[in-house]
Amino acid sequence: MQAVIPEELEVKIEKLSNMGLGIAKAGGFVIFVENSCPGDFAKVKIYKKNKHFAFAKITELIEPSSQRVEPFCPMQKVCGSCQLQFINYDYQLVLKREIVKDAMHSIGGEEFEVREVIPSPQVRNYRHKIQYPIAQTKNSKRILAGYYKPSSHEIVNIKYCPIQPEICDRIIEFIRVEAQKLGISGYDETSHTGILRHVVMRASDYSGKVLVVPVINSEKLPENVRTFSEKIFDKFDEVSGISVNFNTKKTNLILGEKTQNICGEDYIEEKLCGKIFKVGAKTFFQVNPSSANNIFEYVKKYISENFESPVILDAYAGITAFGIALSDIAKRVVSVEEVKESVDLARQIVKENNINNIDLYNMDAGEFFRKQLDKYGKCFDVTVLDPPRKGCTNESLDYALKLTKHKIIYVSCNPATLARDLKYLKEKGAKVDFIQPFDMFPHTYHIENAALISL
Ligand SMILES: C[S@@+](CC[C@H](N)C(=O)[O-])C[C@H]1O[C@@H](n2cnc3c(N)ncnc32)[C@H](O)[C@@H]1O
Repeated sequence: MQAVIPEELEVKIEKLSNMGLGIAKAGGFVIFVENSCPGDFAKVKIYKKNKHFAFAKITELIEPSSQRVEPFCPMQKVCGSCQLQFINYDYQLVLKREIVKDAMHSIGGEEFEVREVIPSPQVRNYRHKIQYPIAQTKNSKRILAGYYKPSSHEIVNIKYCPIQPEICDRIIEFIRVEAQKLGISGYDETSHTGILRHVVMRASDYSGKVLVVPVINSEKLPENVRTFSEKIFDKFDEVSGISVNFNTKKTNLILGEKTQNICGEDYIEEKLCGKIFKVGAKTFFQVNPSSANNIFEYVKKYISENFESPVILDAYAGITAFGIALSDIAKRVVSVEEVKESVDLARQIVKENNINNIDLYNMDAGEFFRKQLDKYGKCFDVTVLDPPRKGCTNESLDYALKLTKHKIIYVSCNPATLARDLKYLKEKGAKVDFIQPFDMFPHTYHIENAALISL
């Protein structure tokens, strides 16, 4: 018999889902409730349901959880970015640890040890990569820049965002005004018309500088976009450079293939683990430098306590952040990354930091693993795997097992794919020692993890 549920009902929120929604149970349904906190007792209205799941909004908060706090951002309710800002920060960390444990249990089928979350040193002004979609109002032609409302592509025009460096608010306000003055239209994704699609900013915690990247729907640089870029560069001492990115595709990907530097430098510098890094428009770099520093220091301490002069593989390396951070304690580091811009920057960083024990490879990790295994066999003491959200393929995991003598340190921003991959590694005989979560993204449901694996 199919379960039935009324349109409106009273529920107790029991826990938080991996997408930051409160979970309640009633009438055989699991109900995902927006903007709710475990401990809330609320009247909710169902707006979508299937056989066993339903989605609901709170219509009356009968008894709020004692963990609720007043959000510090006035836009929290409308902007989709900081889903958990109304929950006190310490409790956010408790909930995130539960999310990791649940993923390990339900996807990994295991009760791996999940340690307490290491908090972010900064809980405001921590986000150093900003990607604002741009649009334009129909009649007044005002330029809008901000984040999307939850589950929509409707832009919330954000004037002030307390989780970003304050300078970014000032730059984006200038961009709104100048783009309109210069007749640079905002992008309309339905009709695929308009010029300015996104503004990406890479801000440095170390130098306070910002690289500004206008993303345009054009193959060539229009003269007014050049003038626009020069005006931004001239206006702000904090802007290290302007690089225009060209993206004419009908795609959700923000950046196109080609980037052209218009003014100043095409990177910012960041300092982590005592090393200076260069971060460009297209390079992957952790969005929260102070929390990233915690991860690098943690991994470095763990390896130095367990190995003397190890040979380390840094796979899915980006600008070789792990490799560079670990170079002081390694005999040799070998790093592999598929994005050429990142590897080119890594070469510069390695040189400028006078590091001479890193080999950099610009290729697909799977292909590199195969070649390395054919040539050298099991040759790494420790492998750091830090793949994108989708995780590793089984083939890559098999290679990592064959190439590594002692430890794999698997760093992941997605508990679900991490759980899947740990399950696979365990089936192949590896032992998951523990998982250490780090809060890289305060006030959101995202959580970064390092899994320590023995072979
Ligand atoms: C999560 S990032 C990690 C970067 C780096 N470890 C860091 O902490 O800054 C993942 C990186 O893997 C790279 N990548 C994705 N798929 C790849 C593949 N098949 N082969 C090599 N690199 C890949 C991406 O370009 C990206 O730089």
